Amino acid sequence: MGWLKDQVVLITGGASGIGLAVVERFVAEGAKVGVMDRTADAVKSIEKKLGDKVVGVSGDVRSLADNEAAVKKTVEAFGKLDVFIGNAGIWDYMVPLMEQEHDNLESICDEIFSINVKGCLLGARAAMDELKKTNGSLIFTVSSSGFYTGGGGPIYVASKHAVVGMIKQLAYEMAPDVRVNGVAPGGTITNLGGSASAGHGDSKLSDIPDVDKLIEGMTPMGFASVPEDHTGLYTLLASRENSRYLTGTIINSDGGIGFGKRPGQ
Ligand SMILES: NC(=O)c1ccc[n+]([C@@H]2O[C@H](COP(=O)([O-])OP(=O)(O)OC[C@H]3O[C@@H](n4cnc5c(N)ncnc54)[C@H](O)[C@@H]3O)[C@@H](O)[C@H]2O)c1
Repeated sequence: MGWLKDQVVLITGGASGIGLAVVERFVAEGAKVGVMDRTADAVKSIEKKLGDKVVGVSGDVRSLADNEAAVKKTVEAFGKLDVFIGNAGIWDYMVPLMEQEHDNLESICDEIFSINVKGCLLGARAAMDELKKTNGSLIFTVSSSGFYTGGGGPIYVASKHAVVGMIKQLAYEMAPDVRVNGVAPGGTITNLGGSASAGHGDSKLSDIPDVDKLIEGMTPMGFASVPEDHTGLYTLLASRENSRYLTGTIINSDGGIGFGKRPGQ
C-alpha cells in the first residue's frame, strides 16, 4: 500500500472540498484519518462512507478545547498522531474594503481571521505534544492569496499572508522535531463559504455564475482546478520518506497565477 501506510492524520475542515479530497487520498495511501468539521452530520457521513479508517469529530477550529478534543479522539482511535492538517477556512468573496458594510466590518474581520488564522494556531498548539512524540509534521492550507492579490478581498488576502508567516515561524520554532509546511492552492471549484457576519454564511464559491471562467481567465494554465489536483502535494509533505528535508516550505499549486498570463494568451 501507498506512501502513508500506518500514518495517523488529523485534518480540520475535512468534510468538504479540498479537505475531503485529502481525506480520501490519504485513506487510499494507507493512512487513518481524524476528520474535524463544524457539524456532526457532515463528519458522520464521512465515517459512513470511509468506515473504520476514519474517525469524525464535530468542532469549531476557533476553540482550543475543540481542537484538543479532536486530537484526543484521533489518538484514542488510532494510537498516535503523525500529521495535523489545518485546512478549515472561509473566504471574503473578494469584497473590497470600501465596499464592506461599515457597521459589520469589525465582526467580518474577527470571523475570518479567527477561522483562517487563529484556527490554525490553536490546532497547531493542540497537536504539538503528540507530533513531538512521533517526529511528525504540520501542514496548512494556504492559498494563492497568501502570496498575491486578486483572489480575495483584503481581509482574506491578509488572513492567508498571516498563515504564511505562521508556517515560517512554527517551522523555525519546531525544528528539528516537527516539520511545518503548506500547500497554496489557486482557484478551486468547491463549496467554499464566507462569513456569517457579511451575510455569506450560506454562500458557496461554486454557485458564483461562471466562476470556472473567471479562474480560467486569471490562470496561465488556463483552467480552474478541482480538489484532487492538490492532494498529491499533501501526500508528499506528509510522507517522511519523501520529504524529510522539507520544512518551512509552501508548495504553490495555482496554475502559475503569480507570474500572470502573456499578452493575448
Ligand atoms: N476553493 C478555493 O478556490 C481555495 C483556494 C485556495 C485556498 N483555499 C482554502 O482551502 C481550504 C479549504 O476550503 P475549500 O475550498 O475546500 O472549501 P469548503 O467549504 O469545501 O471546505 C472548508 C471546510 O471547512 C469547514 N469549516 C469552516 N469553518 C470552520 C470552523 N470554524 N470550524 C470547523 N470547520 C470549519 C467547512 O465546514 C468546510 O467543510 C480553506 O482554507 C480555503 O481558504 C480554497
